[in-house]
Amino acid sequence: MDITLRPVHDSDLPVFFRQMNDPEAGRMAAFTAKDPSDRAHFDAHWARIRASGDVIRTVLVDGDVVGNAAVYGRPDEREVTYWIDRPYWGRGVATATLRALLDLVPERPLYARAAADNAGSLRVLEKCGFVVTGHDRGFAHARGEETDEVVLTLHG
Ligand SMILES: CC(C)(COP(=O)(O)OP(=O)(O)OC[C@H]1O[C@@H](n2cnc3c(N)ncnc32)[C@H](O)[C@@H]1OP(=O)(O)O)[C@@H](O)C(=O)NCCC(=O)NCCS
Repeated sequence: MDITLRPVHDSDLPVFFRQMNDPEAGRMAAFTAKDPSDRAHFDAHWARIRASGDVIRTVLVDGDVVGNAAVYGRPDEREVTYWIDRPYWGRGVATATLRALLDLVPERPLYARAAADNAGSLRVLEKCGFVVTGHDRGFAHARGEETDEVVLTLHG
């Protein structure tokens, strides 16, 4: 299995839109857009982040678009995020993706947030060296309720 990252192409966006409308994935991530099925909002968001200068990459497995990953945010609060399509879960794709992303972005510290019960994401982060440094609680649109969140840090 060949896992690679490359810059985002326009043709990836409909694939991301479908992947990010998977209700099971949304529930897991919890802190999603208010309405992931709002295509105009999705398009505006992606146009904005692609123009921002942040590091945003498409994840390919054997040439297929299987997700995306990014490092974004203010210079002193750079945060990682990633999303892998459900058929590819459980094969080490997110771990390889995050490792590749961390190689691309040398700055430290980096931060991450995950719903406290997102065991998969927490495991991926811990395998890549992130440690839990805080706890938060906020409204999770994908669940329609207040949800516990964990803050993690990758130190230099
Ligand atoms: C969370 C997510 C990124 C994991 O992707 P993945 O490619 O399946 O992860 P990996 O295969 O690299 O798994 C890494 C580790 O997590 C574990 N893991 C993965 N999914 C898990 C789950 N649902 N429950 C418990 N452990 C899980 C794996 O067993 C593996 O641990 P191990 O190496 O000790 O065996 C993926 O499910 C996803 O994109 N979900 C929806 C979006 C999301 O939640 N993004 C993160 C927001 S913070």
